[in-house]
Amino acid sequence: MHNNKLLSSSILVTGGAGFIGSNFVLDWLKQSDEPVINLDKLTYAGNLSSLESIKNNPGHIFVHGDIADRGSIRDLLENHQPRAIINFAAESHVDRSIHGPDDFIQTNVVGTFHLLEEVRAFWQGLPESEQSKFRLLHVSTDEVYGSLEPDDPPFSEFSPYSPNSPYSASKASSDHLVRAYHHTYGLPTLITNCSNNYGPYQFPEKLIPLMILNAVNNKPLPVYGDGKNVRDWLYVTDHCAAIRTVLAHGRPGEVYNIGGNYEKTNIEIVQTICSVLDELQADQDGHARKSSYLDLVTFVTDRPGHDRRYAIDAGKIKRETGWIPKESFETGIRKTISWYLDNLEWVKNSTDGSYQNWITKNYGSRRKK
Ligand code: NAD
Ligand code: DAU
Repeated sequence: MHNNKLLSSSILVTGGAGFIGSNFVLDWLKQSDEPVINLDKLTYAGNLSSLESIKNNPGHIFVHGDIADRGSIRDLLENHQPRAIINFAAESHVDRSIHGPDDFIQTNVVGTFHLLEEVRAFWQGLPESEQSKFRLLHVSTDEVYGSLEPDDPPFSEFSPYSPNSPYSASKASSDHLVRAYHHTYGLPTLITNCSNNYGPYQFPEKLIPLMILNAVNNKPLPVYGDGKNVRDWLYVTDHCAAIRTVLAHGRPGEVYNIGGNYEKTNIEIVQTICSVLDELQADQDGHARKSSYLDLVTFVTDRPGHDRRYAIDAGKIKRETGWIPKESFETGIRKTISWYLDNLEWVKNSTDGSYQNWITKNYGSRRKK
């Protein structure tokens, strides 16, 4: 049965109080008058202070809720009739998934399923002309493809899924569900698989903000294993731009890999952070710090099942939409470090509560190597 309602000019973002989601919402409202409805459960990783600057912007409608709550999703869709949904909501930290996978299955798998069911019902109730305009963009990760050997070519959209952690397995599962809803029901979906993001508002459990903040607090910099695991790094606003581009120009049912073409070992990333901090400290004091922040580096017990290397072939998104990253790592990491140094209040705000328990749980039993 069609309700003859028309899609409105608005988008629904889930997980928009998290790291990438909040950057996306802030960026969106800088470039567009189109309202954003932002549904977030406000887990430990969601932080309303990341959205402080748009607190009074009528184009931002925040709703506290869960993607697994069918009634809330139904009401939101009925009330706002968004033309697109971008699903960022997830449990996102690999180490937490190793300590406790339950929440990952609940949000990433079951939550995505419930979201898909409500979106399908909403979409099927639209007139056909509106159905073809609608989009559901599911934000995913390169980790679904597993781990690369040093000489393997980067992941393409044809790489087989081979997830190795409870986190990546839960994301792979959600990708499969999204794909199936396109294949079976014709829902106009898009999936993006992106490499490691960094930038403002990232919760300090992830490598880059954790290392910046530990360093400035003179705490050890815990590098897992031999520090030679490789990740590809992308500045968060480049990821946001890629998502906007795929939303506008991506072909329904397609997958787009997104990456920064910047592969580095973890120890190289930590060394870069230390040398930028050394330089900033020297500028501030007028002379070099007696010892380098590098002295704080401590190799510790490895992450179980630690993927050795990720790399992304972003050729498809470039060919089909023209998207390429704007920020180099050299400039992006400086912006990121400065942002954390200038926003210690945000850090304090987001690390109140259960953060210290997490640090003890994850690092307490790791041995120095
Ligand atoms: P994050 O952990 O910083 O934020 C996740 C947000 O989702 C939080 O605001 C949280 O409150 C919210 N959330 C969690 N469960 C929810 C639920 N059941 N209902 C509604 N909201 C819920 O994560 P992030 O780093 O911003 O990642 C966002 C998305 O991008 C995730 O899907 C992640 O898998 C993917 N991704 C992340 C990276 C990265 O490097 N961070 C790279 C590629 C893909
Ligand atoms: O590749 C995309 C993925 O990148 C996203 O899907 C995830 O949501 C995101 O968390 C990130 O996963 P990683 O596991 O790669 O990110 P993390 O920042 O946790 O770790 C980056 C690398 O640094 C990894 O090889 C583990 C290592 N590491 C991490 C921490 C927190 C350390 O050596 N020490 C640490 O304390």
